[in-house]
This record gives sequence, structure tokens and C-alpha cells, in this order.
Amino acid sequence: MNNSNIINNKSSQDNDESSKNSESESDPEPKTSQLIIEENKNLNIEVLPEGTNKCDLSFKVIIIGDSGVGKSSLANKAIKNTFETAYNATIGFDCFQFFVKINNKIVKLQVWDTCGQEAYQSLITNFYRNCSLAIMVYAINKKSTYDNLDEWLKELKTESNPDAKIFLIGNKCDLEKQREVSFEEANTYSEDMEFSKFFEASAKEGINAKEIFIEAARILYEDYIEYKSDISQDNSSVSEKTNPQLNNNNKNEDRSVCC
Ligand code: GTP
Ligand code: MG
Repeated sequence: MNNSNIINNKSSQDNDESSKNSESESDPEPKTSQLIIEENKNLNIEVLPEGTNKCDLSFKVIIIGDSGVGKSSLANKAIKNTFETAYNATIGFDCFQFFVKINNKIVKLQVWDTCGQEAYQSLITNFYRNCSLAIMVYAINKKSTYDNLDEWLKELKTESNPDAKIFLIGNKCDLEKQREVSFEEANTYSEDMEFSKFFEASAKEGINAKEIFIEAARILYEDYIEYKSDISQDNSSVSEKTNPQLNNNNKNEDRSVCC
């Protein structure tokens, strides 16, 4: 199981009996970036500015989950370093780009931030196709958004590439006092479902927002490198059937201009 919660999760600490009453301010420096760097010590990773206009590898990433869980807020925090307290529901979808340089390859994530409203669901499922990774978000302070994950997962499995990777994100971990979903419960669910990663995050506090996308880029990059090495070892060992996602990604390699 590669569902390692490599990001030191502050909320899991807060969940301990001994620190139940402690506010997030008591530990203002979550060690998230440091731990990511430790895990990535063999990779040279640098986040590039939003306007980067070149890429070597391009991957489609979608963000899904109930309305109001903070999907757009996480994307905005990670990509533009902004956070809005006011709720502006996404209509349809928004599209962002996130660029990471990994070992001299520029990886572009084309991030589709979808709306959570039921009325748009038939439109949204069109975006599931050909995605390399789905970020499924719930809010830790609203149990119904966690209970609905099975429905999101069902849609995703029906409409997307079966090999698409899945991250589970429990957002709003700054709202510890209103927590309705424990870290442990969600972590077990993530392990049972064999998701690639489970993080708790806070778009408001900037906890793990950027890290979600760095991790996404890293995992997709490493998969791609593994795929390339499988191909060079035995050309017949990886067929389009056994690894359609990476074949699909392969088509995007070495584009000089990003779309
Ligand atoms: P839809 O576009 O309708 O699907 O919603 P969404 O999932 O994109 O939610 P959005 O990012 O618009 O956030 C909804 C509300 O939650 C806004 O009022 C945000 O300010 C608030 N919010 C988002 N993330 C956080 C967070 O980490 N902590 C707290 N406390 N509030 C948050
Ligand atoms: Mg939104």
C-alpha cells in the first residue's frame, strides 16, 4: 500500500486527547514542506511561476467533491497564494495550470476545478475522461461531504480512466473544534480504497495546499519515468491495455508550448 501520509498532519496531532484544546496557533510551523523535501530528496523539485509557457510533460488533474468543501480555495491557495473568505460557488468549472520542475523536466498539471453542485454533474463527468489524477475533497467539519465520497468515487470510476490515481483531501483542518470526521477514519477509508495519498489540509491556513499539487506532479512524473524504463527494458511488457494512462501521458511528452 503506497498510501503513506508523508505530510505531517497537524490535525492528527490536534486530535490527540492531550492536545484537544490546543488551537492551530500553538504550532504555527507545520513541518509539511520539510517532510516533502525529505521524501523527495532524490528529486530536484522546484515550483515554477504560473505564467511558465513551456513544459515537457503535461497531466490532466481534476478536483471533485461536494459544494463548499474548499476545492477552489485549495487551488487558489496553491497556485495564486490567495484565500477568499466569501463563498463564490464555481459555475461549471475553472482551469488552472501548476508547473513543477522535477530533475530538469518541466511538469505541467492542467488542473480542472469542478463545481460541486448537483445540477452540473452531467457536465462535470465529461471532464473525468483522460484525467491522470483526481483530487477528491471533503470538509473535515461536515460529515455529509465525507459520506458522499462513495458517490463521487462511483462516478469517477465509471467515467474516468481506471488507472487514474486518486488523492483524498480532508480540507478545513483549521476548524478543529468543529471536526466531524476523524483523521483516522478517513485514513482507513483511503487505505481501504487504495488511494495514492491522503492529506488533511487547510486552504485558509495554507496547510498542505501547495503540497497536494507538488505531490501530484511528483507521483505522475515518477510513474512516467517508471513506464519509460519498463518500455526500454522490454518493449512488449507494457501495452496500451495494461497502462493506458501512461500511454496517454506519453503522447503529451516534450510539448514545447503548453495549451
Ligand atoms: P463549489 O465551487 O460550490 O463546488 O465549492 P468549493 O468546493 O470550490 O468551495 P470554495 O473553495 O468556494 O469554499 C467554500 C467556502 O469555504 C468559502 O467560504 C471559503 O472561504 C471556505 N473555505 C475554503 N477552504 C477553507 C478552509 O481551509 N478553512 C476554512 N475555515 N474555510 C475554508
Ligand atoms: Mg469552487
